[in-house]
Amino acid sequence: MMNSKQFHVAVVGATGAVGREMLRMLEVRRFPIASLKVLASERSAGQMLSFNGQSIPVERLSAESARGVQIALFSAGATVSKEYAPIFVKEGAVVVDNSSAWRMDPAIPLVVPEVNSKVLSKKSRLIANPNCSTIQMVVALQPLHKKAGLKRIIVSTYQSTSGAGQSAMEELRQQTQAVLNKTVLPVPKKLPAIIAFNCVPQIDVFLENGYTKEEMKMTYETRKIMNLPKLPLSATAVRVPVFRSHSEAVWAEFSKPITAKQATALLAKAPGVVVVDDPANKKYPLAIDAEGKIETFVGRIREDISSKKGLTMWIVSDNLLKGAAWNAVQIAEVMIAKGYI
Ligand code: A2P
Repeated sequence: MMNSKQFHVAVVGATGAVGREMLRMLEVRRFPIASLKVLASERSAGQMLSFNGQSIPVERLSAESARGVQIALFSAGATVSKEYAPIFVKEGAVVVDNSSAWRMDPAIPLVVPEVNSKVLSKKSRLIANPNCSTIQMVVALQPLHKKAGLKRIIVSTYQSTSGAGQSAMEELRQQTQAVLNKTVLPVPKKLPAIIAFNCVPQIDVFLENGYTKEEMKMTYETRKIMNLPKLPLSATAVRVPVFRSHSEAVWAEFSKPITAKQATALLAKAPGVVVVDDPANKKYPLAIDAEGKIETFVGRIREDISSKKGLTMWIVSDNLLKGAAWNAVQIAEVMIAKGYI
C-alpha cells in the first residue's frame, strides 16, 4: 500500500483464528504501521506473536490499551467489542469490528468495500465487518444486481469449522482422529454436534422463527449492505467438516432476465471475484483452493430451471480472509486512501 503516513495500530483478539490472519494481512499488504499492539485476554498475555520477522508480546486488553491507537481491528467476540470498541473510539481510534455487536445498529456502517464503500465518511469511527457467509455472497451478487435487479435469494451454506474459532478446528481434528483410531469420540464442546464425517444444520442459536441466528444474519446483513431493505432471503447454514473456506449454493431471482453467459461476463470483470467455471474439465471453486486467497471464487453459473429469471451458482471464499481479516484490513485501507483517517 502506497502511503507516506504511518499509523499506530492495534489488533484485539490477535491470538485467535481471525486475529492471526489480521496480522498476516497487515504484513502482506505492507500496511503503513508506525507501531503495533497485539491484544488478547489475560490467558495469552506474554505469549509471543511474530510480525514482519519480529516477535511481539501479547498484552492483556484493558481500557489503557486504547491510548494512542489510531486504527484498531477487533476480533475477540461481541462481548469484548461492546465493552471496548467505544473506549477505543473515545480515545480517537477508528475501529473496524469483526463481531456481530454493532452490525445492525443503523448508525454504524456495515461495509464490504466492493459493494458499499460509499457509506464510509470522515465521521465513520466504528465500522462493522459483516458475517463471513454474507460477505462472499454479496461480492458475487452485487454486479448481477446492478445489471438485472435482485428480487429474491435462496442460499445453502457449507461452512468450515474455522468460522467458530480455533477450538472448533481442534474439535474437528480430535474427532477425526478418534473416528479413524476407533477410540471414544470426545464430547463436542464448541460445536453443537459431532462434526467429523458429518454435516450439522445449526450455526449459532435457534430463533423463534425456526431459523438460526447465522441464517438471519445473512438476511438482515445482505439487506443492509446492498441497501435493499425488503429483499426476501432464506438461508440454511450448515457446518461441514472442512477447516477453512465457506462454500455456498445460491439461487438468485432477478427483475430482468439475465443469462448465465451475461452473468459470467459480468463476474469475470467484477472486483474481488475470480470465475472458475469449466465443469467439463472438473474446474469449479473448491474450499481447499480458496484457502489463503483474498478473492471470492464463483462457478457452476447456470440458468435456474425452476425460475425464468433465476440464476444458480457456487460461491467459495476463505472465511478467515475475505470473510473476516482481509475485509477488515481492506476497510482500513479504504479509510486511509480516502483521507478519512
Ligand atoms: P485468548 O487467546 O487470550 O483467549 P477464536 O475466535 O479463535 O476463539 O479467538 C478469540 C480471540 O479473542 C482470541 O484472541 C482471544 O484471546 C480473544 N478474547 C476472548 N475473550 C477475550 C477477552 N475477554 N479479552 C480480550 N481478548 C479476548
